Amino acid sequence: MSALTKEARIAVIGAGAMGAGIAQVAAQAGHRVRLLDQRPGAAAQAIANIDQQLSKRVQNGKLEASARQATLDRLQPVESLDKLVDSDLIIEAIVENLEVKRQLFQELESLCHPSCILASNTSSLSITSIAAGLQHPERLLGLHFFNPAPVMALVEVVSGLASDPALAQCLYETARNWGKKPVHARSTPGFIVNRVARPFYAESLRLLQEGAADCATLDALLREAGGFAMGAFELTDLIGHDVNYGVTCSVFAAYYGDTRFQPSLIQKELVDAGHLGRKSGQGFYRYAADAQRPAPSQLSSSAKVEGCVVEGDLGMLGELLPRLRQAGLEIIQRDGSGLLRVGDAVLALSDGRMASQRARDSGLRNLILLDLALDYGQVQRLAISCSADTSALAQDQAVALLNRAGIQVCRLSDTPALAVLRTVAMLANEAADALLQGVASAVDIDLAMRAGVNYPQGPLAWADRLGLGYLLQVLEHLQGAYGEDRYRPSLLLRRRVAEGRNLHD
Ligand code: NAI
Repeated sequence: MSALTKEARIAVIGAGAMGAGIAQVAAQAGHRVRLLDQRPGAAAQAIANIDQQLSKRVQNGKLEASARQATLDRLQPVESLDKLVDSDLIIEAIVENLEVKRQLFQELESLCHPSCILASNTSSLSITSIAAGLQHPERLLGLHFFNPAPVMALVEVVSGLASDPALAQCLYETARNWGKKPVHARSTPGFIVNRVARPFYAESLRLLQEGAADCATLDALLREAGGFAMGAFELTDLIGHDVNYGVTCSVFAAYYGDTRFQPSLIQKELVDAGHLGRKSGQGFYRYAADAQRPAPSQLSSSAKVEGCVVEGDLGMLGELLPRLRQAGLEIIQRDGSGLLRVGDAVLALSDGRMASQRARDSGLRNLILLDLALDYGQVQRLAISCSADTSALAQDQAVALLNRAGIQVCRLSDTPALAVLRTVAMLANEAADALLQGVASAVDIDLAMRAGVNYPQGPLAWADRLGLGYLLQVLEHLQGAYGEDRYRPSLLLRRRVAEGRNLHD
């Protein structure tokens, strides 16, 4: 079934942050939109707010005055459900409460014509469950926009057990005509984004809880080495800890307490204290006018290094070599097992083991492990961890080498899979499980994570690039180190490794 035409009449119920944004998107795309809220005057006020925003854009030369007027002409506030009877699509964005949503849709079903599509913007409730009381549950779907709806490109088109696939395709095409990047998802807790993104927060919170590093250092690593737009602490401060913790708790409960989604006590404490982030002036960071953002802690070195020895194939780390050569270092190549030696230090890419464990397993001394970077050819900050026997001189030599390549070095405690590697491994693992369980296609999962939360790469494509065998090894080492189910590798990773295939194949 193709997209709704511009003549299709749209209704949005709930004129809060999301409803107003969705109404604006549909009106800008050329539809007549009616907006309704149970609070008298709220819909008209929401349209006045849209007018204000559009007028600002006209003043800044970002929007034609005629486009603003045309959008406003298409928006109509209404005060009762019976004004929506001739709608072709009704999108609900009211309070996040199953019973209230169910009741609203039952009422709508009795009022509207049988071909009207019913959609919910819920972010945490089951579409199957919302549709359960309807005479025609097949016409109810999820249409999950992200906040702010006029800005964020992603829309998850969510199908419940009874949803009609033709209507899902119609909403998908319609969202695309509205300038969005839609994806299909099956109704499962957290859909795609709110599920797959959980480890992004959870792993940083765990590293902080275990004293691996401070917030500013971990945020800087995720940004500068991982290529994420923000680190987990600055991002959760922005989202609000009540909201972010609430989503984690709801996903954790919905998956019957699967430890992969276990909420963090550190974040709970912030919520308990009312330290909700930017909006309360204090979260992991302070936001008072005079507050200074703490700097990441990084190592300095006075060691002099003139060259290094590369033993065997460094894999991804090989991208560092042109940078070292360009800095004038002499590089000697010989056979070996993927190690980089400088002075007393032995450097290697983390495989998920702690440095001391790997040093002991392999009989190496002064072993220094490097964290993952999105691009070793460009990266300007990297985390390291050191085996317990690493001398001050060996550490200095390693830091001096990386500094010569233009890389700042942050030392973490000896923690398995460091910061970026464990975050990416866990994101990829969750994405693989979502793929295994048929929540969405590989392409849609990756698109959702890029468009919904701005990840620099889709987690499945990232996993394919790193090599699934390597990723599986990292996860197995994490699971071995912690002895926790939380780090269990997805069956799909094991299967694809055994088959010699990628996740996108
Ligand atoms: P909000 O609290 O800003 O707005 C909800 C509006 O719905 C209020 O104006 C309220 O008066 C009205 N309302 C409540 N019950 C109603 C009813 N029975 N009939 C008509 N109007 C009613 O909430 P927000 O943030 O806009 O969220 C709305 C929905 O969108 C929720 O289901 C939420 O989970 C979902 N959502 C929220 C996102 C966010 O970042 N805020 C992101 C994606 C989805």
